Amino acid sequence: MNTVIENSALRSLLERLHASSDTQDREIAAYYKAGAERPTGFEQEGSAGREFWRDKFVALERDKAEFIYALCRAMRARRIVEAGTSFGVSTLYLAAALRDNGGGLVTTCDIEESKAEVARGHFAEVGLSDLIDLRVGDVRHTLRDIDEPVDLLVLDIWAPITADIIALIGPHVRTGGVVVADNITARRDRYAGLIAYLADCSNGFTTQTLAFEGGLELAVKTQGA
Ligand SMILES: C[S@@+](CC[C@H](N)C(=O)[O-])C[C@H]1O[C@@H](n2cnc3c(N)ncnc32)[C@H](O)[C@@H]1O
Repeated sequence: MNTVIENSALRSLLERLHASSDTQDREIAAYYKAGAERPTGFEQEGSAGREFWRDKFVALERDKAEFIYALCRAMRARRIVEAGTSFGVSTLYLAAALRDNGGGLVTTCDIEESKAEVARGHFAEVGLSDLIDLRVGDVRHTLRDIDEPVDLLVLDIWAPITADIIALIGPHVRTGGVVVADNITARRDRYAGLIAYLADCSNGFTTQTLAFEGGLELAVKTQGA
């Protein structure tokens, strides 16, 4: 299979993780078919909902992940922030791009300690741990201290939370920096806060929805806000 990832150990780990995520996607489709709602954020979620999602990858699809890898390379990204680590699939692509750019740091966060523990194992397996600052807890708290210029912000987290994160990190995205948000067309109403922030000229972004499955929002900070 063609991939932008050249490192063979990383390629085979990613292949394994994407395959597991694909298998679970069928289980998730059945869950929705049975009437379950998309996850909203843990305050609103019943414990059964949280239990269901606790072992799910919900990993960024290969094509989106490869696109973001290439974007990081093109931007020569050094400082990345990600909301939603899960088992670390997208983070592996981000850290690989940093390594291939000559170094940097991706700060990523997930609320589930059990997922973070497995993700840490994946990062170590392919020697990428040094490029990753993995934080455990509610992203609305764990990312509060980010204050340096951010090249890329990746939002791959339950939709309603994206409004809080963009308010927190958006001002730190450097001019020329990028925000990427997954699945924006799947349930656009749930991204209302994020969309409103990106559309507000005073925040300095120019934004468009790329035609990946479910939509991938790509916003570039074109003016210093
Ligand atoms: C779509 S998955 C992330 C997938 C990951 N980017 C990948 O490619 O493998 C979303 C993750 O967000 C986490 N999450 C949900 N709400 C959160 C919150 N308030 N703070 C931190 N993480 C949260 C979930 O536990 C879940 O693992």
